[in-house]
This record gives sequence, structure tokens and C-alpha cells, in this order.
Amino acid sequence: MSATISVLGASILALLLAGYLGQQYLPPPKPRIVGIDLGTTYSCIGVYHAVTGEVQVIGADQHDTIPSMVAITPEGTDIVGYDALCQAEQNVVNTIYDAKRFIGKKFSPEGLKTEAARYPFKVILENEMAKFEVNSQALTPEDIGSRILLYLKKTAEQHLGFRVDKVVMSVPADFDELQRNYTRAAARLAGLEVMRIINEPTAAAMAYGLHNQKDASEIIVVDMGGGTLDVSLLSVYGGMFQTLAMAGNNHLGGQDINYRLMQYFSDMIARRYGQPELSARDLQRLRLAVEDVKLNLTSHNSSMLQLPLPSIGDDVIFTEKLTRKKFEVLNEDLFQKVLQPIRLVLDEVEMTPADIDEVVLVGGSTRIPRVRQVVADFFSKAPNVEVDPELAVVYGVAIQAGIIGGMWPLQVSAIEIHNRKIRKIQVK
Ligand SMILES: *[C@@H]1O[C@H](CO)[C@@H](O)[C@H](O)[C@H]1NC(C)=O
Ligand SMILES: *[C@@H]1O[C@H](CO)[C@@H](O)[C@H](O)[C@H]1NC(C)=O
Ligand SMILES: *[C@@H]1O[C@H](CO)[C@@H](O)[C@H](O)[C@H]1NC(C)=O
Repeated sequence: MSATISVLGASILALLLAGYLGQQYLPPPKPRIVGIDLGTTYSCIGVYHAVTGEVQVIGADQHDTIPSMVAITPEGTDIVGYDALCQAEQNVVNTIYDAKRFIGKKFSPEGLKTEAARYPFKVILENEMAKFEVNSQALTPEDIGSRILLYLKKTAEQHLGFRVDKVVMSVPADFDELQRNYTRAAARLAGLEVMRIINEPTAAAMAYGLHNQKDASEIIVVDMGGGTLDVSLLSVYGGMFQTLAMAGNNHLGGQDINYRLMQYFSDMIARRYGQPELSARDLQRLRLAVEDVKLNLTSHNSSMLQLPLPSIGDDVIFTEKLTRKKFEVLNEDLFQKVLQPIRLVLDEVEMTPADIDEVVLVGGSTRIPRVRQVVADFFSKAPNVEVDPELAVVYGVAIQAGIIGGMWPLQVSAIEIHNRKIRKIQVK
């Protein structure tokens, strides 16, 4: 009996060994499922590669991500991503962005009116849902989403040299079932089968391998983008994620910082040149210059703004240095506001900063050194920042796609548990 077992044992061992050696020497399997982050302002696609365990983000036009923007020509042709962005200023009424804010959402006539007032393109109500009127076509938010997805799918196929038709997607944690269904519909329209949908904060945590942790951990994900701030508290144990609380501020992001800088420099121009009337063109250039200064201050101690102002005079160039120190003073109240939703989620589950094991930062605005510092001070620990905060979500969905596709060396599966409805608390 024992001999049989040992023979059996040996053959199993041999099989395992063969499998193991096979894995070492066979060519790596082709990734069969990709991950897509269909974002409100930017979208991207990622592929997990077996063996190396690397995630490849497949970009377009020298960028990793593409603007989530779609324009339709009078002839009915789609223009997507950077091409749409380039023509946006000349074609504002036919260039749709922010479609994700409308997808799978029911509106009252008044509700949609308020929302639509923020956009230069036409939004109409049909069966309680939004549609965009573009060059005499009426397109649904999922139609717009599908065009972005199709663009990403084609880009990936060109790079990888094989068909891509299965995908893992991410959605905001507070998307309800209908919004998730319409996200699936967008994928279906682009010829993609959605193998799984995961929450964006979960994806970001997975980018840091937090699904592999042995012990139970509490994770805070802070996502600060251009216009909104979202904080989620997740609990992970044995690869199972649960969202414990969510809070957000729909009106705090990089735009607010840019607005502060615009004010600061506008006041300075007014003082220096005596209340000039700046042309729309000059204001637009100032807007771009301010963004440039903000980005530079992430890696430099000071940045020089140099702005020709033809509306004041042909040879007038406004030049002004902004130090990081001054930048931080100008925006300190905004940076402190990042802590508001963090406090709200902790209060909601009666936890303290010390109960949090990991902090993950997502979104372009979390690159700002002072934002990182404020968060690090609050938790008395350094946040996870090694992954590009604008790519953390796509890394996570690509890893989830790799797991579902059975791509070794990924083993631990990650599952999200949805056992109760979590309300997202809004900062007032
Ligand atoms: C979402 O889709 C599923 C599967 O097709 C369906 O069972 C469910 O009723 C849909 N939910 C909503 C809210 O439409
Ligand atoms: C920026 O300033 C800090 C302290 O004021 C200094 O340690 C650092 O070297 C400076 N960095 C650059 C790039 O000048
Ligand atoms: C920002 O940095 C880049 C590269 O270092 C530089 O070319 C550019 O002039 C800088 N812009 C400002 C406004 O400082």
C-alpha cells in the first residue's frame, strides 16, 4: 500500500516537475485577455505578459493613455483620442467627452438640464437616459464608450499581432448594476467580451500586489484626478477584496489648483500692466502655461512662466518665477481638503489612521509632492507610489486579466465580495 502511494507520489511529482520545467522552456503563452481602464478623461489598455510578469501598457501617439474623447465628422467618420482632442477647439459642439458621467444613469428632465449646461455639446433625454447629438446623429454614452474601446482594441491588436476580444474592465466603486451593465454594452458594441468588471480602487491595490498579502489588510485608496477626489477603504484577505466605505469630493482636483495659479498670475499681470483686457487666445495660453508650471514643480524647486501677451503689446513677454514653496502656500487649503474624505471613511467604520496597513495613491494630482506629504503625515507612513498613478488602474485590470487567463506565474486569484450596498459619502 505504502509502495503504491509512493509510486503514485513519485509520478505526481514527476508530472509537477514536467509541468514546472515545461513552463520554464516552452514559449510563453500569448495573453488572451487584456485589461482596459475606460476613464472619464483618459483611457488605456494593458496586457499582462506571462514569465516576465510585466504589464505592458499599449499607448498611441507617444502617450500611454488616450483622451476619452470622440468627434464625428459631417460624413459620419469617428475621430477618437488625441485626434479628437486636436480638433476639439474648432469643433466644440461635435466633440464629446465625459461620456462616462452619463453611462447607465437615469436622469430627470431637470437633472439632465443641470448636467448638460456644463457642456458645449448637446445632450438630450430619451427614456430617462442621456444621448448626445453629434452632426445630426444621436449617440448614447455607450456608443461613445464603444468607439474609445474599439480604438484601444485596434491599437492593441496592431501591437500584439493577434486578435483581442476578451477584456477585464474597471468601473468606479460606486457604479450601480445598471451602470455596470451599460459599460458591458459599450464593450459588446466594440466586439469585446467582458470577462469581469472590477472596481477601480481594487484594481489600483492589485497593481501593488496587495491581493497577494498573507494577512488581512486594510487599504485606503486615494484617487485625485483633474476634477474629483475619491477615497475608498478596502479590506483584503486571501485575495478577497471588500469595500468597507467610500467618500468623495466631486469638486476637488487638478483643475482647482490650475484655477488658483491662473488667479495668481492674472493678478500679477493686472498689477504689472495696469488691468489689461487679455484676449481669449492669451488666456488660453496662460491656461496651458499654468499646467506646464504645475507639472514642472513636481520635479523642480521652481519653474519659470514665460508668456507672450500680444493683447498688451507685440513684444510683451510676461516672465515670472514660481517656487514650489510659493505654489504650496497658494494651494495649501486645497491640499488639506484631501484629508476630508479620508477622515469620513475612517469615521464611517470607526477606524483610526493607525488601523490602515497600506495607502495607495491614484490619479495625476497625487504626483504633487505636497499631496503625498499631507497623506503620509496623516497616516504616519509612506504611501505606495511606485506605479505611475495614472496607470495604476490599468495595471490592476491587466493583472486581473492575466489571472483569469491563467497566466503563470500569477496564482492567487482576486475576487471582490459584494455583500452590502456601500453609500458614497460626499464632502459638503
Ligand atoms: C444587468 O444585466 C443582468 C444580466 O444581463 C440582468 O440580469 C440584470 O437584471 C441587469 N440589471 C439591471 C439593473 O438592468
Ligand atoms: C530643492 O530644495 C531642496 C531643499 O530646499 C534641496 O534639498 C534639493 O536639492 C533641491 N532640488 C533641486 C532639484 O534643486
Ligand atoms: C518645464 O520643464 C521642461 C523640461 O525641463 C522645460 O523645457 C520647460 O521650459 C519647463 N517649463 C516651465 C514653465 O518651467
